[in-house]
Amino acid sequence: MLFITLFFILLDLFQAATSLSIPIPNPTRARSPRLQPARVVNAPAIPTSTLVSDFKKNNVSSQWAPGHPLQWGSEEKLIEFPVPLGFVGWVATAVTEDEKFLIMIASQVMKVYDLDKEAFISNSSFNFPADEVSLVLLTAPGGGYDLIMSAENYTTRIDKTIQVRLDQNGKRTNYTREFEGKFASFEDRPFSKDGRKMLTQSQSTYKKGVAYVYNLDDPTFNLTLSGHEDWIMSETFSPDGKMISTASWDGTAKLWDASTGQLLHTLGPFGGQNWLTRFSPDGKNVLVSIGPGAKPVIAIWDLNKNLTNDPQISIGPFPNWCRSAEWTSDSSLLATGDYGHILIYDMSSHQILQNWEMEDRWNWEISNMAWLEGKKQITYRITGGLELYDFETNLKYRWGPGDMDRYNGGSGPTFLLKKKGWIGGVEADVKVRFWKYTP
Ligand SMILES: *[C@@H]1O[C@H](CO)[C@@H](O)[C@H](O)[C@H]1NC(C)=O
Ligand SMILES: *[C@@H]1O[C@H](CO)[C@@H](O)[C@H](O)[C@H]1NC(C)=O
Ligand SMILES: *[C@@H]1O[C@H](CO)[C@@H](O)[C@H](O)[C@H]1NC(C)=O
Ligand SMILES: *[C@@H]1O[C@H](CO)[C@@H](O)[C@H](O)[C@H]1NC(C)=O
Ligand SMILES: *[C@@H]1O[C@H](CO)[C@@H](O)[C@H](O)[C@H]1NC(C)=O
Ligand SMILES: *[C@@H]1O[C@H](CO)[C@@H](O)[C@H](O)[C@H]1NC(C)=O
Repeated sequence: MLFITLFFILLDLFQAATSLSIPIPNPTRARSPRLQPARVVNAPAIPTSTLVSDFKKNNVSSQWAPGHPLQWGSEEKLIEFPVPLGFVGWVATAVTEDEKFLIMIASQVMKVYDLDKEAFISNSSFNFPADEVSLVLLTAPGGGYDLIMSAENYTTRIDKTIQVRLDQNGKRTNYTREFEGKFASFEDRPFSKDGRKMLTQSQSTYKKGVAYVYNLDDPTFNLTLSGHEDWIMSETFSPDGKMISTASWDGTAKLWDASTGQLLHTLGPFGGQNWLTRFSPDGKNVLVSIGPGAKPVIAIWDLNKNLTNDPQISIGPFPNWCRSAEWTSDSSLLATGDYGHILIYDMSSHQILQNWEMEDRWNWEISNMAWLEGKKQITYRITGGLELYDFETNLKYRWGPGDMDRYNGGSGPTFLLKKKGWIGGVEADVKVRFWKYTP
């Protein structure tokens, strides 16, 4: 079983984040998707909860769950990184799949928080002077955990990935391995389903667009995927582990044989930057988020058909890039998140079932979308907070800064701790908050 319990910490703060005007799809190159500290956005004084279109059930708009929206200060647990962060406005986080440990990394310090004891149990440091760290925790063979850190130093342009094994007690062992490249930038899914094959890519100037395939259990195995002419933004394994899809700023997406590294097919170029790629969990479809530059759409190909540059399904166009898209585990529904806007698309009827749209849409990007309990709920991050919609009860939830607070960026993945009945993660002010919630 795989467990990517964590992800990156950061979304790029797009120039629109500070702008009052409607962003126009940028025909030139967007800047490097690098981590920035969370910041307060100079946006219009419209409550973030003001919607043009809400989630609906039987044509009745969703209602707030009792007490919601909830604001900072009403959380069940607040966990701060207990060292001065200095200029580093980020904390990378991961939770073990058994919900025992929360790992926090900032600057070059790692702290392990015991979720049962509700206390930090260890400090350690890395010689890893990076501006950005992504963190993933896997269950290690024979017990314990594999902590995989992926990082880039923007000055030296060195990117690398480090594996460190923790024992069952969350204690760091001396088992460590280094890999070339880092995870791709946007909500990457860099592991095969069994969690043992890993994808990295290089954003260094010298190896631009090169991807690597590793086997965590076999140090002699690696593949180099060469062919992209610009940075890879997203890379992922097919559910059966046989194929790899990569989406790049060179305008193409490529499908590769995961055991030989052979290029199977190139989709595009589509004339814009590509941001995201995903396989549907049933392995039947692959999606690529295209644009801007080209018309921003989510393009979906049926892998049983001959692949041409015409996708079978095209969702959009969106006014700007769409960097969040998640299928339900049964592959029946696809959620897309762009700027202040979520669509739920039905793969069999080809209908849009839900259209959620903020009034002040243009300032806020959706991130970290995740389906819970199959397709009972969906969560996402927006305006510095965490939101959730329950399709059965038609209730919506929000945990975040105040409704008029203008935070953007700085948020990370969401953790649902079922044993504790907590939901949360790192927020725009670089603190981890958990709230009481049972799906
Ligand atoms: C849904 O509600 C809207 C506004 O209340 C109404 O105009 C529309 O006709 C309704 N649609 C259906 C399918 O009932
Ligand atoms: C971790 O380091 C901090 C600051 O140096 C210290 O206060 C704390 O006691 C340490 N915690 C553990 C569990 O070692
Ligand atoms: C990146 O590397 C340079 C050179 O080693 C170092 O001076 C700098 O502090 C590093 N950046 C970070 C954020 O640690
Ligand atoms: C790593 O730890 C193991 C078990 O504690 C020990 O046998 C081994 O010598 C250590 N290796 C290094 C390089 O320190
Ligand atoms: C791949 O493996 C070979 C042989 O073990 C090694 O020399 C090379 O550095 C590895 N390449 C990468 C990108 O890790
Ligand atoms: C794919 O193209 C090949 C060659 O043109 C053709 O023989 C085959 O029937 C096509 N397959 C499908 C599923 O359309």
